[in-house]
Amino acid sequence: MKRILIIGHKGQLGHILMSIPSPYQRIGIDLPEHDITDPQDIIPTIQQLRPDAVINPAAFTNVDAAEADPDVAYQVNAHGAGHVARACHQLHIPLIHISTNEVFDGSARQPYDEWDQPHALSTYARSKLAGEQAVRFYHDDVRIVRIAWLFAPGGNNFPGKIVAAARKYGALRVVDDEFGNPTYAPDLAAALMRLFELEAPPGIYHITNSGTCSRYEFAVSVLKYMGMADIPVTPIPHTAWQRPSQPPLRAILANRAAARLGIQLRAWQEAVADWAQQQQRIKS
Ligand SMILES: NC(=O)c1ccc[n+]([C@@H]2O[C@H](COP(=O)([O-])OP(=O)(O)OC[C@H]3O[C@@H](n4cnc5c(N)ncnc54)[C@H](OP(=O)(O)O)[C@@H]3O)[C@@H](O)[C@H]2O)c1
Repeated sequence: MKRILIIGHKGQLGHILMSIPSPYQRIGIDLPEHDITDPQDIIPTIQQLRPDAVINPAAFTNVDAAEADPDVAYQVNAHGAGHVARACHQLHIPLIHISTNEVFDGSARQPYDEWDQPHALSTYARSKLAGEQAVRFYHDDVRIVRIAWLFAPGGNNFPGKIVAAARKYGALRVVDDEFGNPTYAPDLAAALMRLFELEAPPGIYHITNSGTCSRYEFAVSVLKYMGMADIPVTPIPHTAWQRPSQPPLRAILANRAAARLGIQLRAWQEAVADWAQQQQRIKS
């Protein structure tokens, strides 16, 4: 049985990658036992495990905290990613590296294709873009998979925060001029396994659920499927929601490369309905 190493297996996507049904055996590593910023640790660890492939969702993902601590963001998202790629290169095994829609500044009128020129705005986004460059510098057998607005049942994510805030405050204000593509971790995880199975060519892939929405539309849909449609939601501009980092307003991803391999995720609304069902199951 082929073995896939999941780095950052305790995180939102990593946890799902470990648990979805798949013909492949999964091995997981994460902090505090293993640290991708330490090449003396991570490179021999990957060499000893000798997996058939690596999927790397491990990252410093606190976008706002990265503004205050750029060094840590770069250590993990750029240098750490590079160390993982070096180990994969030495073992001659494929690497699937997870990146973000935030490598784009969101100023384009059209959704971004895989070949479009990135221009990252925030520290987090610049560190992730540096990570894309690092993995390609060290290894040629790499698929960089850009995703956006990731959510999983039970995870610390936008839908979960919307439901918690609705319960706490009984009314919400949500930004309606930031647009993106929700990406449901179970759908994405299945697509990543399929990339491996198909021996997808190295390169950049944009994989999200189909369709786009504003944060406001995402929140309204979450409340609808959670049976909380009576919660009033007021649309507000992003300028009324102060954050340490500035997210791109229209970093919408177009899936061209994976679609050519037959990989297209269902509509984001169906994924939200599934999320709500799983969420209610976890809570009951
Ligand atoms: N969340 C989103 O909306 C979103 C959107 C676009 C792209 N992405 C990308 O998707 C990927 C997965 O995101 P996620 O939400 O699943 O992230 P997550 O829940 O924060 O999980 C990341 C995992 O990596 C671990 N990690 C952090 N630093 C590490 C290090 N130095 N060595 C080893 N492991 C380390 C984390 O451990 P600790 O928890 O202990 O730090 C955590 O278990 C990331 O690459 C992220 O950049 C996410």
